[in-house]
Amino acid sequence: MVSTATSIAQKKFDNCIMNASGVWCYDEKELLEVDKSKAASFVTKSGTLQARKGNPKPRYFETNFGSINSMGLPNQGLEYYLDFVQKIQQQNPNKTYFVSCTGFNVQEDVLLLEKVENSGFKGIVELNLSCPNVPGKPQTGYDFETVDMILKTVFENYEGLLGVKLPPYFDIVHFDQMAKILNKYPLTYVNSVNSIGNGLYIDDAQEKVVIKPKNGFGGIGGDYIKPTALANVHAFYQRLDPKIQIIGTGGIKTGRDVFEHILCGASMVQVGTALMKEGPGVFERLTHELEMIMQSKGYEKLDDFKGKLKYIE
Ligand code: FUM
Repeated sequence: MVSTATSIAQKKFDNCIMNASGVWCYDEKELLEVDKSKAASFVTKSGTLQARKGNPKPRYFETNFGSINSMGLPNQGLEYYLDFVQKIQQQNPNKTYFVSCTGFNVQEDVLLLEKVENSGFKGIVELNLSCPNVPGKPQTGYDFETVDMILKTVFENYEGLLGVKLPPYFDIVHFDQMAKILNKYPLTYVNSVNSIGNGLYIDDAQEKVVIKPKNGFGGIGGDYIKPTALANVHAFYQRLDPKIQIIGTGGIKTGRDVFEHILCGASMVQVGTALMKEGPGVFERLTHELEMIMQSKGYEKLDDFKGKLKYIE
């Protein structure tokens, strides 16, 4: 029997595939659809202190090889997601859910986590340090001193399970430096990667950009980013304290992509662009494709190949 079950922070999940924050998770309707699908769990859209409308449309565009977006954190506000998760948690007491949140400074992060604590939420928080699409706000994950300060402050104030969503890094020295910071804190997991920020996709016939915000600049997802995502997953797998698990996100649209993320060290994977293109049915297809690959290789569980990427001698 092949099992795609996994665990994060000793919480058991009967599958290792779920949505990426930002996709199919804006409101109750979308979250319920993911909950009813083959997905292991769901993570909400990153909740801010106040609800946000986000950037002007068009702000998402699909290409043959992926997507570009500049959503600008449209969300219902953190309290909406906490209320909803409390409700659904009562119906599924054995399931663990993820709530994503993001502040615009460390004080906001602390306030958000205070709200999480006061709500009695028993799941896992994903602190988003990597949204590339808020005009005038750089991606926190590229400011190493600020990441260190945020994590120090957050862990002085919050005792629940908490992971971080990071932007992609592109330099070995940056993997080393960021891992050194992350290893100082009792993180539950690191989620690599958010979209590759500030790409530009153009319609050459019209000689025009395809999304409106930031004159067309936006986060790139899909096929384009899988090698970068795998590199980040594996780089952190090699460097982080084994107590900090990895969630792999980026370029997953087949069971083979899931397999590769796990081979690089991911304990769970999240699906963004492919979920957007295909809808929640994607989870069943990906799970089946992963099971077929595991079966053909004689693997029964994720631990049989997790992190076991081979190098050329
Ligand atoms: O624009 C957005 O809402 C994207 C957020 C993110 O990538 O974290």
